[in-house]
Amino acid sequence: TPRVFSGIQPSGGLTLGNYLGAIKRFVQMQDSGTPTIYCVVDLHAITVWQDPAALRRQTRELTAGYIAAGLDPARSILFNQSQVPEHAQLAWIFNCVARMGWMGRMTQWKDKAGKNAENASLGLFAYPALMAADILLYHATHVPVGEDQKQHLELTRDVAAKFNHDYGVDFFPITEPVIEGAATRVMSLRDGSKKMSKSDPSDASRINMTDDADTIAKKIRKAKTDPEALPSEAAGLEGRPDARNLVNIYAALSDSTVDAVLRDVGGKQFSEFKPMLADLAVARLSPISTEMARLMQDPAEIDRILGDGAARARAIASPILQKTYEIVGMIRS
Ligand code: TYM
Repeated sequence: TPRVFSGIQPSGGLTLGNYLGAIKRFVQMQDSGTPTIYCVVDLHAITVWQDPAALRRQTRELTAGYIAAGLDPARSILFNQSQVPEHAQLAWIFNCVARMGWMGRMTQWKDKAGKNAENASLGLFAYPALMAADILLYHATHVPVGEDQKQHLELTRDVAAKFNHDYGVDFFPITEPVIEGAATRVMSLRDGSKKMSKSDPSDASRINMTDDADTIAKKIRKAKTDPEALPSEAAGLEGRPDARNLVNIYAALSDSTVDAVLRDVGGKQFSEFKPMLADLAVARLSPISTEMARLMQDPAEIDRILGDGAARARAIASPILQKTYEIVGMIRS
């Protein structure tokens, strides 16, 4: 039976990359009728330092973002990871299944720990084992994510396969990544070779879901481009990462494809295309940011939704963890 799981870290504000690469797809999968579970992964966030007050605020804000973008707490299970202790419990078992070498090859680890791995947290190194636990705790079959999570999902498949093999069982499913749409990798507005990221020091490099209309328009106006006009087909974007990025964003925001967009705007200069993109971005994003701000006025209600979601998540997770303990040989009495 299909079941969708995904998560986002409350380690900063939401960006357009999170929205187009993940949340927009979360909503589509919810609306397709498949059971969907979406997590705010607070345990993952603390693999790098988080100020406690900021973590609380960002956890609520991300939850508000989920709901404002169209996730319905009655149809999807929405919760924060630390309220379901089974995540940490299964992660421990996976720490004993996954190999040091697998973790050391993760590009996110190499990027985040950098040259100073000695001083990185142990949690940052083990991060992908916790992520595998998130997914496999629900026997999730489909995981919608952006391109940057592909390697972690391959590791999740490796963990499931090694567990099944080592214990001679067919217990954990081999999960399918769902990396689809025009914007699986939204790039920085300042540098088309870098991912748009909530941790980029330059705020002009990203669109935040909480940016107001003027800020969005200004960031798009200043976005890096090249002097050529837009091509009339996708092949013409070859070697033009900044141009490609803006067209991808336009296609994703308008629920269209790059080819269809270029059929309409091919031949236009960026001076004409950028205002079109800014209008579209504002039209799509400002209802979401307005609703987020409204929801944030009632933090107790957000906390109630997270608590309710956590109880429903636990009802699924707990029997799977118990069965895992049994397979491993832990006495339950
Ligand atoms: P995180 O919090 O970095 O990002 C959340 C989601 O947003 C996607 N994303 C992007 N997509 C397109 N373009 C971008 N520039 C961009 N930036 C971010 C990410 O691919 C992701 O889908 N490890 C995960 C969180 C996680 C998780 C999980 C995901 C923990 N457990 C279980 C799926 C299943 C992460 O750091 O995402």
